[in-house]
Amino acid sequence: MSDFYFNIEEYILNHSDDEDTVLAELNRETNLKILRPRMLSGHLQGKILEMLSKMINPKKILEIGTYTGYSAICLAKGLKEEGLIHTIEINDEQEDFISKYLKKAGVENKVKLHFGNALNIIPTLSEQFDLIFIDGDKREYLEYYKLVFDFLKPGGFILADNVLWSGKIIELEKPDDEYTKGIFDFNGYIKNDKRIEKVILPLRDGLTLIRKK
Ligand SMILES: C[S@@+](CC[C@H](N)C(=O)[O-])C[C@H]1O[C@@H](n2cnc3c(N)ncnc32)[C@H](O)[C@@H]1O
Repeated sequence: MSDFYFNIEEYILNHSDDEDTVLAELNRETNLKILRPRMLSGHLQGKILEMLSKMINPKKILEIGTYTGYSAICLAKGLKEEGLIHTIEINDEQEDFISKYLKKAGVENKVKLHFGNALNIIPTLSEQFDLIFIDGDKREYLEYYKLVFDFLKPGGFILADNVLWSGKIIELEKPDDEYTKGIFDFNGYIKNDKRIEKVILPLRDGLTLIRKK
């Protein structure tokens, strides 16, 4: 007799690896103590980010939007032995929280935390990246993309989260709020950019995979 599953996501999670215990604790504490916990990637997307990072096995990763550090830890798991992830967060209130979990996850030496506006910090990083995760302010996606493009190695990947914006992206021909417009402009620009290959994964809130030719 087969088990009963409440929904397809529950089935998927029950037939994938369990959430790492440190990440489950981070997830729980974020939900209890931090504002807007829905921003956290979570079990399914976190596992997919970890797997994509392991497939790419990058030396250098850049993340825009650390929040409480969940995705940074997942991405760090795929780094080469000597690899490093630079993660940028505009809000410095969660510094102790993030540092505590980077330590618990054993990745504190692989993660360089930056506090400030990614648009100001990125030009100061003299690095070339194999993988870039865009997960900051939705109104700034296109600006991030244009800024990071030259910092991405040929053959490197960009992952962009929330590109379906809870389905709002198809509600109006021309979006009337700044957040949906930010995603709308980004998706349109990406579609026509001949320097890249791209596909949207219908995962959670939509994740675009981009490869620089
Ligand atoms: C969706 S959350 C990130 C979630 C996180 N990547 C995860 O998966 O757990 C977006 C974060 O981006 C931060 N942010 C917004 N604009 C930013 C900017 N210009 N530079 C750096 N961080 C920014 C916000 O403060 C917020 O914590």
